[in-house]
Amino acid sequence: MKILGIETSCDETAAAVVEDGRSILSNQIASQVEIHARYGGIVPEVASRQHVLAIVPIVRQSMVAAQVTWDDIRGVAVTKGPGLAGSLLVGVNVAKAISLARELPLTGVNHLEDHIYANWLTGSGVDFPVLCLIVSGGHSDLVLMRGHGDYLRVGRTRDDAAGEAFDKAARILGLGYPGGPAIEQAAGNGTDCLNLPRAWLAGTYDFSFSGVKTALLRMVQAGKISSPADAAASFQLAVVEVLVTKTVAAAKEYQVKHILVAGGVASNKLLRQRLGEESPLPVLVPELILCTDNAAMIAACGYYHFQAGKMDGLDLDVSPGLKLG
Ligand code: KG4
Ligand code: ZN
Repeated sequence: MKILGIETSCDETAAAVVEDGRSILSNQIASQVEIHARYGGIVPEVASRQHVLAIVPIVRQSMVAAQVTWDDIRGVAVTKGPGLAGSLLVGVNVAKAISLARELPLTGVNHLEDHIYANWLTGSGVDFPVLCLIVSGGHSDLVLMRGHGDYLRVGRTRDDAAGEAFDKAARILGLGYPGGPAIEQAAGNGTDCLNLPRAWLAGTYDFSFSGVKTALLRMVQAGKISSPADAAASFQLAVVEVLVTKTVAAAKEYQVKHILVAGGVASNKLLRQRLGEESPLPVLVPELILCTDNAAMIAACGYYHFQAGKMDGLDLDVSPGLKLG
């Protein structure tokens, strides 16, 4: 069953064709990162206009690369939220138009759920229950998944998301945008010597990253940072340590079979390495290109929606503030 996935929740315009929720036939991504880098962050109005320009060519490319015709496609899956309203609207309306023109079933998917389903594209088997650490530009959630479509959020960020914290720290250190890869690269030449604070929020699986960001800002303002590389290494470790410790503790409490990591921050090598070392359970992490926004994960997630009979009509709307669990 070949599904076309469409993703426009943020600053990547993406389309992909995936077979049976597991085999990627194509995965096309048009990134706007260079355009937004000029402004030091995403400008929503610019993002939606770029999606309008890129979406039709990207869908066409995804069909050509997959060597399929419309007759081969059995359904269309699209991100309905969370994300930027004006960006989501582009993908949702194109998906509706295709559904109408080709009489194809349509399903709107939750972007957080999409990121989780990137783990079904790794080739490894997944046994439920699993604990998912979703760490992206907008979210840091710990979600217990007991079956397809069955989610219970057990932890969340109380302020900044992990990716947002990386982006803000990079801005504070003048390392550029997007911040996660910039911090990771700079950290490679530094050592963790600043001993930045960790917010443990004992007794909960919640996260808080605004304190560590503010501590970094104060040190910069006080002229105490002589090496941006050391500052990046210290910041990265402070965030990763909390993410890993809480994830491993929650996995033990909920007696899951696997830990799944998802979202842009899942591409961070220190996070991948530390989780692998400290978890007594198997840890699944998607390959790098499937951690950040892409449409293969949308199509994979859509396949399981269709299997469960979850479909939407042409009244499908965007849900910019959608939550999971
Ligand atoms: O999942 P994603 O592509 O978009 C959202 O749905 O938000 O995540 C983007 C976020 C950005 O905040 C970016 O700085 C962060 O993921 N990120 C990283 C790395 N690569 C991307 N954070 C830490 N280390 C990385 N290597
Ligand atoms: Zn995302």
